Amino acid sequence: MYNSFDNPGLVKVLTFLQTHNTEYLSGQDLSDVLKISRVAVWKHIKKIQELGYTVESKQKLGYKLTSNSDELFPWEITSGLKTKVIGQQSYYFDSIDSTQNQALKMAGDPANNGAVIIAAKQTGGKGRSGRKWVSPKGGIWLSIILQPKFDISITTLFPIASALALSNALEKTLKISPELKWPNDLTIKGKKVAGMLVDVSLESNRIKNMVLGVGINFDVDVKHIEKILKGSSNFYGVASLSEQKNKIKPIQLVQTFFVELEKIYELLNTKQTKKIVSEWTKRSSTIGKNVELNTRDGKIKGKAIKIDEDGALVIADNNKINRIIAGDIIHLSK
Ligand code: BTN
Repeated sequence: MYNSFDNPGLVKVLTFLQTHNTEYLSGQDLSDVLKISRVAVWKHIKKIQELGYTVESKQKLGYKLTSNSDELFPWEITSGLKTKVIGQQSYYFDSIDSTQNQALKMAGDPANNGAVIIAAKQTGGKGRSGRKWVSPKGGIWLSIILQPKFDISITTLFPIASALALSNALEKTLKISPELKWPNDLTIKGKKVAGMLVDVSLESNRIKNMVLGVGINFDVDVKHIEKILKGSSNFYGVASLSEQKNKIKPIQLVQTFFVELEKIYELLNTKQTKKIVSEWTKRSSTIGKNVELNTRDGKIKGKAIKIDEDGALVIADNNKINRIIAGDIIHLSK
């Protein structure tokens, strides 16, 4: 596990190599400038190479960084991150059962507000309604700890607002407009590219903390995941961002998402829910469609008309209006 506060020596060497990547830097120069021993410089460079960065080493000339790692290491996340809280602390795991489980363990500590848990792969990834979330290497799997100020009544809008934030980030970075499927799925041509999972902890009618789990199929083997999930409930196909024409680095998407999420979070804190509802509706593939969902009291069918300010989906069936607060819907047709 790597976090944003350990390894200051390694981060110093790496940052210096990254900002001087057009020249060779001698071990002695690095040692003098960074005020660490030559042995320490050498050890850090070895570790940096192990982490997936390419550092060329030439006798008499020294070291030169020729390529960066694509892993979402804490120091990569914080470097140039334009947020106040979200992502300013992070924890990176090569492999973990579920970032959500890890974040839930840490969520009660006030010092962890805005902290992010990231994993290169998850062995027990969790989806909504107790489903499994297939999380191989290549995806973006993260959970964000939040200790919000907003009212408990906003809780149900939060997942919807978070999906909107991710959609905004994808528009900005990849120049694509994913569709938003109620409540919090992002789809491309009707197939799921990302999902959100929110766990809320309440205390005497106020929110103690929340954990937002985000799964993004960034560069995954779609066929492989579809094979595993086929036949399971709420399965309607998988999409991967790697199928898009434009290419970006995962770090660009993650940093932009954190900025967009913080903006949305501010809107929620200041009760500007109308704006979120209208922006979500513009991008929604659900509104206007005939939908169906299973409830404990049987099937509900009808036309999805709108979402209310608390995020509930309003469905009309002849003259009957149903307000759905949670659940999984199936899109039937226009
Ligand atoms: C969904 O069912 O649509 C929600 C999927 C959420 C998956 C993410 S991946 C990171 C975090 N850790 C988990 O175990 N689940 C969430």
